[in-house]
Amino acid sequence: MSKYSFLIVIHFNVCLLMMSHSVVVGQIKPEAYIIPKPTEIFYTGGFCTLDHIAYQHDSVLFSPYTDVLFESMNKYLPVNKKSAASDINLGFKVSSDMMSESYELYIYNDKIIISAADKIGIQYALTSLEQVVRFNNGKLPVIVIKDSPKFRYRGLHLDVSRHFFSKDDVKKYLDYMAYYKYNNFHWHLTDDQGWRLEIKKYPKLQESAARRKETLVGHYNDEPHKFDGLNYGGYYTQEDVREIVAYAAARNINVIPEIEMPGHAQAALAAYPELGCEDKKYEVATKWGVFEDVFCPTDQTFAFLEDVIDEVITLFPGKYIHIGGDECPKDAWKRSPFCQDLIKKNKLKDEHELQSYFITRMEKYINSKGKQIIGWDEILEGGLAPNATVMSWRGIEGGLAAAKENHDVIMTPGTHCYFDHYQSESPDEPLAIGGYTPLEKVYRWNPVPQDLEKEKHRYILGGQANLWSEYIKTYSGVEYMVYARGMAMSEALWTQADDYSDFLKRFVKHNVYWKSNGVNIANHIYDLKPKIKAGNAKPVSVSFSLPGNAGIKHSIDGVETKMVTSGEDIVISQSGKHTFQAVDGDEKGKPLNIIFDLHLATKAILTMAEEPAKQYYGNGPGSIINGVTGSNEKYGGTEWLGFDGKNCTGFLDFGKKVEVGEIQFRFFKGEGQWIYLPKKVEIYTSEDGKTYTSFQIRNDVTSEGKIGKVNLALGKIKTRYLKFEITNFGKIPEGAQGGRSQTLVICR
Ligand code: ACM
Repeated sequence: MSKYSFLIVIHFNVCLLMMSHSVVVGQIKPEAYIIPKPTEIFYTGGFCTLDHIAYQHDSVLFSPYTDVLFESMNKYLPVNKKSAASDINLGFKVSSDMMSESYELYIYNDKIIISAADKIGIQYALTSLEQVVRFNNGKLPVIVIKDSPKFRYRGLHLDVSRHFFSKDDVKKYLDYMAYYKYNNFHWHLTDDQGWRLEIKKYPKLQESAARRKETLVGHYNDEPHKFDGLNYGGYYTQEDVREIVAYAAARNINVIPEIEMPGHAQAALAAYPELGCEDKKYEVATKWGVFEDVFCPTDQTFAFLEDVIDEVITLFPGKYIHIGGDECPKDAWKRSPFCQDLIKKNKLKDEHELQSYFITRMEKYINSKGKQIIGWDEILEGGLAPNATVMSWRGIEGGLAAAKENHDVIMTPGTHCYFDHYQSESPDEPLAIGGYTPLEKVYRWNPVPQDLEKEKHRYILGGQANLWSEYIKTYSGVEYMVYARGMAMSEALWTQADDYSDFLKRFVKHNVYWKSNGVNIANHIYDLKPKIKAGNAKPVSVSFSLPGNAGIKHSIDGVETKMVTSGEDIVISQSGKHTFQAVDGDEKGKPLNIIFDLHLATKAILTMAEEPAKQYYGNGPGSIINGVTGSNEKYGGTEWLGFDGKNCTGFLDFGKKVEVGEIQFRFFKGEGQWIYLPKKVEIYTSEDGKTYTSFQIRNDVTSEGKIGKVNLALGKIKTRYLKFEITNFGKIPEGAQGGRSQTLVICR
């Protein structure tokens, strides 16, 4: 769940001259309000007159879940029945020419017909029908829907190790998944902080690996670390697992268990220390991160893991077993004479090839049982196991590389698919790991990388959103992080429709439904996301884009100015607290306060030597000089910029000679998220904007907590041109979180 490497953030206050609705007619055509949006939907006009839905019960096509859908539909249809409740008006056609999962749904004036190849298509048709009924309050438009998914793998993941979720919670998750046509549940059952699956042959996995003595309080980046002193734990019995797997199967959801190896194994080592490389006492981890204590590749470890797999296979009928493979530090293997000997004996190059040996050996065992492995993209390092499917999480590169080698890939890059990230920049969001993955970003995601040749597209099976639970203690927290973005993800995976405002019309209905049922769903569609422009020799300006008819109220230091429309550029000509709030009829968004601190550079022309990293691009390089300070707590918003392994070098042209008193920089430090302070800050001046001379240098950047500050007093020099060069920390040391990854600098 980590990010990439390291991050510098700069606040650039140059010199101290601190001078400082339109009405759209509402939609007339009927709307089906289905999420994910069907591939094709035809509104033929008029409304269906049915006052109930009756059907011939078919035990082959239906399941307890489809019964729930029928029951729900009839709640929304009129109670005064004109016709006998037994008059059959919903018919099914099983058509072997159709693809699995696809369906056709015909709503006529007086009857409904569903065609599908199989019970999965029937379930999806009924789910769509239920949404039409529910969100139109029983008044069904006459429509024809022809629908099939764009991607065959549509997954949601849940980490139950960092925090444990009960059997009933997991069932709620599966209900949610079924409602949005997800078909794979990735159940992250084991990790450093707790082993959650009963394995009968190894009772200590339940007795000790399932519990930790206490848990970190607050964020991992808050130091010193504090703990709650409360014993914490839980696990699923095999009986629970069978019940959950059957519950999922009734919803046509496959369950993929993840048994982490060789890393993220500290809980297992706490129970069976003989499986580690070192003769020491291990304990179930009480904080988050990546730990050096990993499985040792001994025959004893393989025997243990094979026994575990033997039991796992009896519980999970699906084709895949996820074996983790991510974030495995090699320190213990480097220290271990046994591992070094094994490397030599097997003519392996290094510990990365030893990891590949580990995964390949387990793959062989799992394949021999008729199952396939999935692993996180680190399984590419040291050589990919022959039949492995790769889950690309550190970006899309792992997925690209695997697809090029003709391996199946499930895309789940942290940038778009990590639902443990913040979804709003509001300062009162519940504590999250970091990042910023709002609804629209998820909606616009395409699992197929642009750079992948056409003939390799078929290896991209689909995508998945992941919910790591370090900062999510309750199911209410799961609802908050997943239920809104999960709708956007379902549409990205099913439809790839690329019409966000159309999605929002449907999202509003679904959101109200969940909320009225007591679900803690997030709604940030009226949150204002400022697009701030600066660095182009013009005054700083800000604009907002909002759905529908919403307008924006603007005030400066509490004094109201005028209503602004969506998309309009608001010129900021005055420093102070600017407050913006979306207003859409009776609906109001949260007020957004931005403190603009205008300074000499806010009107300069800024040119960068290197663009910021795509995933930390914020409002672009202008953010460095726009007079707005990045958050002290979060780096994922629009004001912090990231430079992934690169320096942050910029050139300022003030248009004429000006007197520069001081330059202030701010940097973000979050080493747990691979974000490091810069090595060096250097300022240059120039007479002609071509040749630059070094003027001041600082190579002692330190931070207080998460924020590093560097103020350079320039002694009121007169210059038209300035250059700043912020030198990236470089490669993260091996063994630290994100080690071996590229580095990142964020600058603001
Ligand atoms: C991961 O987030 N460590 C796969």
